[in-house]
Amino acid sequence: MAEPGHGAGSAGGKLILCGEHAVVYGHPAIALGVDRTTTVHLRRVDGPTRVTEPHPDDPRLLRAVRAVVGDGWEVTIRSELPIGRGMGSSAALAVALVRALAAAEGRAAGEHEVHGRAFACERVFHGNPSGIDHAVAARGGVVWYRKTPDGPALTDLPVPDWSLAVLDSGSAGNTADLVASVAARMPSVAPLLDRIGALVARARDALSDVDTLGPMLTENHRLLAEIGVSTPGLDRLVGLALSAGATGAKLAGAGGGGVVIALGRDPSRVVDEASRHGVAGFVCRPGARP
Ligand code: MEV
Repeated sequence: MAEPGHGAGSAGGKLILCGEHAVVYGHPAIALGVDRTTTVHLRRVDGPTRVTEPHPDDPRLLRAVRAVVGDGWEVTIRSELPIGRGMGSSAALAVALVRALAAAEGRAAGEHEVHGRAFACERVFHGNPSGIDHAVAARGGVVWYRKTPDGPALTDLPVPDWSLAVLDSGSAGNTADLVASVAARMPSVAPLLDRIGALVARARDALSDVDTLGPMLTENHRLLAEIGVSTPGLDRLVGLALSAGATGAKLAGAGGGGVVIALGRDPSRVVDEASRHGVAGFVCRPGARP
């Protein structure tokens, strides 16, 4: 039970295994919870809501926080998630805020409430998000996600026993701008999005098999590059991962920067090889539950 006038909540990060961007247009995507979290602490104060340090100098942050909690709170954010790297930092913040507010009111937030209120926060950061990021931030595990006119349709998938190499491009992508840039290229990119949707359905059947799944991830990356959301740096990281023995690799998230994920029998080798090229990376086990 929270102390009166206080509330805390946390939520996890995510990586999109396949299907980003296409998911905005109603195609399915598969996302993975990761074992890095964001925690929010709320304390009742008089006057407008303020966010204490440390937080990045992003003018959207206070607007996003207020979209969930309104005024009258001091908000402290602690996050293990890198910002703008496609790992769901804003979605984890959104879900943690909803949970913290409910805790301050002496109750737990239900799934429906979390989705609806976190969505308002995500819209400040991302304009027209599909909802996949905050669905996975709330739920963790491995999730098959589809946006439908009646709301999100989610299915928990079995957690596979492989790990991923995650390589950091060193720069951040802007999800709202990238989603808008794809929208501006409709309908000419629609056939590429359809191909991603079909690929995600095949990937679901190959989820436990790194040799079959890997090349599908690389194909997904090529389709995202054709749509225009990759960068030369991300393409280089995909090539580096493949030459270090990965069975497949792709950008993960909106693109324009962020991370590349690589699948294979020896993800540590991919991370070591990347580090020899001055690229930071880590091995990540998918399917963490916050
Ligand atoms: C961002 O993590 C994933 C995108 O598909 C946007 C969204 O689904 O909201 C690029």
